[in-house]
Amino acid sequence: MNETVIQFDRHQHNTDEKCQERILNSKRNLKDSLIILGHHYQNESVYRHADYTGDSLKLAQYTQALDAKYIIFLGVHFMAEVSNILSRSDQVTILPDLSAGCQMADMADLQKVERSYRELNKVLNFDQTITPITYINSAADLKAFCGDHDGIVCTSTNAPKILEWAFKSKEKVLFFPDQNLGRWTGFKMGINLDEMVVWDPDLPLGGLTKEQITKAKILLWKGHCAVHQMFRLDHIKKFRSDHPDGIVISHPESPFEVCSNSDFVGSTEFILNTIKNSDSGTKWLVGTELNLVNRLANEMIKEDKMVKFMSHVICECSTMARIDPQHLAWVLENLENNNIVNEIIVPEAIAKSAKIALDRMMQVV
Ligand code: 13P
Ligand code: SF4
Repeated sequence: MNETVIQFDRHQHNTDEKCQERILNSKRNLKDSLIILGHHYQNESVYRHADYTGDSLKLAQYTQALDAKYIIFLGVHFMAEVSNILSRSDQVTILPDLSAGCQMADMADLQKVERSYRELNKVLNFDQTITPITYINSAADLKAFCGDHDGIVCTSTNAPKILEWAFKSKEKVLFFPDQNLGRWTGFKMGINLDEMVVWDPDLPLGGLTKEQITKAKILLWKGHCAVHQMFRLDHIKKFRSDHPDGIVISHPESPFEVCSNSDFVGSTEFILNTIKNSDSGTKWLVGTELNLVNRLANEMIKEDKMVKFMSHVICECSTMARIDPQHLAWVLENLENNNIVNEIIVPEAIAKSAKIALDRMMQVV
């Protein structure tokens, strides 16, 4: 490592324009040693620099396939952890701002998951009947827990296949941290709503009776995404009355009544592809994060498609937004000086178990 690490305060006050120039310059100098991956929720000011873009699954698959020494992740912390776990040991994953977390991921932690799993097994007389499934939006130690307990990881794209996989071997699932994705996926598989109960990790026995636990097929962790929680059935009703020929598409992190009243439900990549491949002149109401919707709306104008954001309040993912041109320029200029800043390294023991759960997922999809 070079001694002269450039400190962030040297970049913090640079204008976006100045940073754009610097980013392009550094990318030119770093050539093939660098790959920038960008999630669809990233702001245009950094998204435009991504070499590859995708939803969580596609980005995870890229990290297994790319050759570059440095992977800069324009996304949030759990995505960069997955990149570190799945990439080769000589590759380096960098998250330009370490405070870019995911509020939903923070709703489950290892201590609570371990205690919940223990309590559930006790009620079920240690029959080993529960598969733990963690949404990829979770810390690496929860993925490791799943790896160590015959569990698995899922994403918004593959959740149906992953649930099917789980029910082949055990009769129940503990699904964390997003209750909405778990409920919607279970419902689409034909599981009754009363067989999917919310497990509140802060209450004794999750706030449930022993009978409820015994009867349940899916125990849904009491977690959600605050961004998608803003979408409401009323938004859909208003859109349908204004545009009777309009089409509604939502992300499965949205509340159940939003998903069940949408024409399509799927991952960020699915939302983008569905609208891009639709007929000219179509009108869309989209229930997912604002940066993605704004970018798509601007692109689709030229094809005479109307793309409308579902909520009337601004639902931006504030943690995704922490990755800005200033931070990107800063990590790149340090790389040019042979300084690695903001590297994401998952401790080896955790990474090893987490990889088991991630590999299981990659084999199912
Ligand atoms: P996708 O995997 O669909 O991109 O979702 C990630 C996410 O965090 C949505 O809020
Ligand atoms: Fe997490 Fe929600 Fe942001 Fe997605 S939109 S990264 S789930 S806080």
